[in-house]
Amino acid sequence: MSGQIYDLIIIGGGPGGYVAAIRASQLGFKCVVVEERATLGGVCLNEGCIPSKALLDSSEHFAMARDKFASHGILIDPPRLDLATMLARKEEVVRKNTDGIAFLFRKNGIELVTGRGRLAVKDGELQVVSIAGDDGVRLLHGKRVLLATGSRAVELPMLPFDGEVVVSAREALSFPVVPEHLVVIGAGYIGLELGSVWRRLGAQVTVVETLAKPLPSMDGQAADTLVRSLKKQGVKFLMETRLTAGRREGDRMVLSLEGPAGSSELSADRVLVAVGRRPLTEGVGLEEAGVLLDDGGRIRVDADYMTTVPGVYAIGDLVPGPMLAHKASEEGVVFAERLAGEGSMVEYDYLPGVCYTWPEAASVGKTEEQLKRDGVEYAVGKFAFLASGRARCMDETDGFVKLLADKGSGRILGVHIVGPRGSELIAEGVTAMTFGATAEDLAMTFHAHPTLAEAIKEAAMAAVGKAIHA
Ligand code: NAI
Repeated sequence: MSGQIYDLIIIGGGPGGYVAAIRASQLGFKCVVVEERATLGGVCLNEGCIPSKALLDSSEHFAMARDKFASHGILIDPPRLDLATMLARKEEVVRKNTDGIAFLFRKNGIELVTGRGRLAVKDGELQVVSIAGDDGVRLLHGKRVLLATGSRAVELPMLPFDGEVVVSAREALSFPVVPEHLVVIGAGYIGLELGSVWRRLGAQVTVVETLAKPLPSMDGQAADTLVRSLKKQGVKFLMETRLTAGRREGDRMVLSLEGPAGSSELSADRVLVAVGRRPLTEGVGLEEAGVLLDDGGRIRVDADYMTTVPGVYAIGDLVPGPMLAHKASEEGVVFAERLAGEGSMVEYDYLPGVCYTWPEAASVGKTEEQLKRDGVEYAVGKFAFLASGRARCMDETDGFVKLLADKGSGRILGVHIVGPRGSELIAEGVTAMTFGATAEDLAMTFHAHPTLAEAIKEAAMAAVGKAIHA
C-alpha cells in the first residue's frame, strides 16, 4: 500500500464526479479522481452537451444566413459551408472547456489518475480502488469511494453500432461530410438536436420513433408545437413506427419499418441510433462489493447518496432520475456538502429539461398530462410568441409559454416553453418555483420591455385572469 490515504476516491471525471471533487476539496477533503479518458468532463464536455451545442450554434448561424437574412433586408450570396472549420471550432470549444476543468483541479489540489477504476477488496476499514492504466494496475486507498461513471448509448440488437454508418451521438458530432440522408432512430433529446444540426447543414433527415409523440416526458402541447416547427424546417417524422430489421447494402443501410401505414423501407447513408442511455454499472466491481441496483438497473442510494455498501457512494446517471449533466453536478455538490455534515438537498421537483432545437423546448415541473392524471385542479396561462414584440423583432414567433398553477394556492406547478431562447427563459420558472412563487407573484414582477421574458409574465397574468395582450 502506498502511503497516501485519500478522504475520497472518485471514479469518473464527468459533470458529476469533477464537480463533487471540487466541492469536496473546498470543504477540506483530500480527493483523487480516476478517469479513463485523456481529458476531464466526461460525455457532457467531450462528446455530448458542449460539442452538440457548439454545432447547434454554428448550424443555426448557417441556416439563418441562408434562410432568414433576406427577410431582414440583408442580401448575401448563398452562404457556403466549410464543415472542416465548423468541426475544428467545435473541438476548440471542447478543448477550452476541458482545459478549464484541469485548471480547477490544479487550483483545488485535486489529484487525477488516468486509467479505468474498479472497486477492489477492502483493506481493513479502507476502501480500495484498482486502476488499470497503460503502466499496469495500481491500487488507491481511501476512506470513501464515489462512483460517477455515467452512462453509455443503448445499442439496438437488430442495428448494432458500426462506428461508420450506424452510429451513436459521438460519431454524429463529427461526420466529415454532410450526410445525404440521415435516419435518426428515436425522437428524444439527442435525435432531435443532432437531427436539427444536419438538417440545417443540408441533409435529408428522417426521424423514426415508436411512440406517438417525441420527448415522452414533455408536455404534449409543447411536443406537438416543436414537431410542427421541425417539420417546417424539413425534418420528416415517422411516428408510431418500429424498426424491424436493418441490412447493409454497400455504403448504405436499408431499414425495414413497420408503421401505421404498414411496412416500408428506408435507405440511408448514415443512421443515428438515439434510443436512450444505460448506466455504466458494468466493470466497476459493483456485484463483488455488494452494491445493489434497483429494478431499473440504477444504483440504490440513500439521501446521502450512499449505496447499499457503507463508504461507497454514487451520483449522476448511475442513480435514479433523468440523465442530465446539471442533475449530476447538483448531486455532486450536495453529496460533498452532506459528507461535511451540511443539510443540503437536491430539489428534484424543479429540475429543468431542455431540448436545444430551434425553437428550443424547455420545461420544469409538472405537465398538464401529469396534473390531470394526479387529479390536481390547476389554472393554465398561455402566451404565444406570435404576440411578443421582441419575438416579432427577431422574426422568431413559433411557440409559446405555458404556465400551470395550483387552483387553490396559486403556486406555480409547471412552466413549459417552446420558443426562441427557451433554454435561457426557463431559468425564471425554475427560480420562481424553487422560491415557492405563485402565478400572481410572477404576474406582478417587472420584466423589461421588449424582451422574450415578458412572455413568462404574460403567461402568469393569463393564469390569474389578467391577460393584457391575449
Ligand atoms: P431519450 O430517452 O431522450 O429518447 C429516446 C427516444 O427513443 C424515446 O422517444 C423513445 O421512445 C425512442 N425509442 C426507444 N426505442 C426505440 C426504437 N427501437 N425505435 C424508435 N424509437 C425508439 O434518449 P436520447 O435522445 O438517446 O438521450 C439519452 C439521454 O441523454 C437522455 O436521458 C437525455 O436526458 C440525455 N440528453 C439530454 C440532452 C439535453 O438535456 N438537451 C441532450 C442529449 C441527451
